[in-house]
Amino acid sequence: MDIHTTPAIWGAMRARRSRDAASTDGFARMLATCLELGTPWIDHADIYDDGAVEALHGAAARTLPSSDRSRLRVISKCGVRFASPGQPGVRLHHYRADAAWLQQQAEASLERLGVERINLYLLHRPDYLMQAEETARALEGLISSGKIAACGVSNFSCHQVETLTAAGNLTLAANQIELSPFHTTPLDNGQLDHVRRLGMAALAWSPLGGQRLFNADDAVSVRVRTCLKAMQARLPDSPGIDALALAWLRRLGAIPILGTGSRDRLIRQVQEMRAIEMDVQDWYEILEAGRGVRVP
Ligand SMILES: NC(=O)c1ccc[n+]([C@@H]2O[C@H](COP(=O)([O-])OP(=O)(O)OC[C@H]3O[C@@H](n4cnc5c(N)ncnc54)[C@H](OP(=O)(O)O)[C@@H]3O)[C@@H](O)[C@H]2O)c1
Repeated sequence: MDIHTTPAIWGAMRARRSRDAASTDGFARMLATCLELGTPWIDHADIYDDGAVEALHGAAARTLPSSDRSRLRVISKCGVRFASPGQPGVRLHHYRADAAWLQQQAEASLERLGVERINLYLLHRPDYLMQAEETARALEGLISSGKIAACGVSNFSCHQVETLTAAGNLTLAANQIELSPFHTTPLDNGQLDHVRRLGMAALAWSPLGGQRLFNADDAVSVRVRTCLKAMQARLPDSPGIDALALAWLRRLGAIPILGTGSRDRLIRQVQEMRAIEMDVQDWYEILEAGRGVRVP
């Protein structure tokens, strides 16, 4: 399934601390649920629990029938480094996009995930020391060797995307960015327009503000929650406030990466989000709640 046609992606970052996806059986049920929902794309990164989340995916996928396994689509990312038991010798946060690192990390992810090919491989964060031609060649090499089907970026500005694409013959399939009613910067900094112009997919991480929607008491969170609750009360089917926030992203053409580790929530969020045809005024009301100011 082409990434542009999926209504959502399941993000596995929190899986090992989640209610339903922490065990091999639970994770396998989440994968099966994603297939049933028509959302076969699963988001990973080499750093999620030092690779343990990818390994959990690999173990879980092996318990599924091969016909199901072949329908799953895997995203992974590399390039972020920080001090952790799985990254010996690293003393501070930094980024890497050199060819040797990409090759090594792609192979390690393939091994852990138990797949022959990663469907979409992303540079997790822009490395300010990136030699764009070297990185572009490395990504092209991973594609031509069949290790990845497509590549893209995450948290890249328009200029950083341009620098990378101009350095080779690369087609970047996606930019994974923070985007939600809590974080609307990409609407104005050109990131979203640029992604659309290049025909890339805009993948929205932390679409619910990573729990802020439910329990944070800062002013923005309270405003967004209050707005969505009022909307929920006046809409005929009373969708969840989470589904409304996700529908807000879909109205923009972005694909939300759902971070829930609850199977029931995942099912409800996808089904309710799909059923919402967000009215343009409702969309602007949510934007204003996030920003705290009216559009001029
Ligand atoms: N590229 C990047 O730099 C980057 C950065 C961050 C994340 N990501 C990706 O984006 C994915 C999503 O990010 P995220 O996890 O922050 O997404 P999120 O969907 O904004 O937040 C998920 C959190 O919200 C909770 N939640 C969801 N629905 C809820 C509800 N109805 N009531 C109460 N709590 C609810 C979840 O808890 P429950 O499990 O209990 O539902 C979970 O803790 C990650 O898995 C990862 O794949 C990428």
